[in-house]
Amino acid sequence: MPCTVIVGAFWGDEGKGKIISYLALKDKLDFCVRTGSVNAAHTVWMEGKRYALHMVPAAFLYEKCRLLIAAGANVHVGKFLEEVELTKVKGRIGIDQQASIIEEKHSAQDKASAHLKGLGTTGWGVGPAIEERVRRTAKLAKDIPELQPYLADSVSEINEGIDKDKKVLLEGTQGFMLSLFFGGYPYVTGRDTGASAIASEAGVGPTRVDDVLIVYKSFITRVGAGPLPGEITKEEAIKKGWFETAAGTGRDRRSAPFDFELAKKTAKINGATQAAVTKLDSMFAQCKGAREFADLSKDAKEFIKEVENRTGIPVVLIGTGPEAWDLIDRRK
Ligand code: IMP
Ligand code: MG
Repeated sequence: MPCTVIVGAFWGDEGKGKIISYLALKDKLDFCVRTGSVNAAHTVWMEGKRYALHMVPAAFLYEKCRLLIAAGANVHVGKFLEEVELTKVKGRIGIDQQASIIEEKHSAQDKASAHLKGLGTTGWGVGPAIEERVRRTAKLAKDIPELQPYLADSVSEINEGIDKDKKVLLEGTQGFMLSLFFGGYPYVTGRDTGASAIASEAGVGPTRVDDVLIVYKSFITRVGAGPLPGEITKEEAIKKGWFETAAGTGRDRRSAPFDFELAKKTAKINGATQAAVTKLDSMFAQCKGAREFADLSKDAKEFIKEVENRTGIPVVLIGTGPEAWDLIDRRK
């Protein structure tokens, strides 16, 4: 543990929110640092209540966890304040003073651009907000009156936490295949979404990261345009129980079977040391709610073993249902 990066393996929506909410409660995380921006929604379920978080770190369920928004992140002020209210985290959430601000005009620019529309962006304006930051004309969190109570020097806090052996989780958003550098350009998002970039956005040097936990889903989904190898039709997806709609935008998610070669490649480039596999119950219905590996069906166990063999990394966490506790934890 001490410092772990959580990275999505494919095109986002692998179930990072669920894995993070479990780790927060189980491991009693000291810090959770959200990267990226408002385009990514992380879904957390607890006692039948669903949260689709665009700004607040997914570890909020553990009430002693210090929640931070990284210096490299882009903050949507309205969404942030709304979610702080919803999750009641005022007093323990901080925004790095150097985080930049995503404004309504960026969303309007995103929606007005035929090119960006063709890529199927989420419409939140993350690309235009990053452009503005690169031009050195962006507003920063420290410039916004409503954010004054939340301002923090997150980089010092996180690094001092690591010095003291605190449990620090760096929350990646989106998926590796949406990376501006490593995904299928131009059908990508406006930033690198890989493990190194997550650490970079948070202000953590590569030698201070202990584990990279890559999150796979048992099948693959993608929203927006761009190639999806092995894509099946919506009808087939419904039949298989794989059909999903996006937590953020409500759009249909396209789907495809698990891709072992891609899983191996993304594990390597992200330097993954551990893996999580979510939604095993969507592949193998008998596994729903299982909490012990021994309780999985034979074919489900074989699938997990094949993921391990083909990627070369241990599958330590297995999701078997939406609630944070619907999970098999194989860590020692
Ligand atoms: P943008 O990030 O809004 O610019 O969108 C660029 C591409 O990334 C589009 O195909 C989006 O659907 C996709 N995308 C962005 N964020 C997420 C996410 O959190 N989950 C899944 N897809 C995403
Ligand atoms: Mg999502």
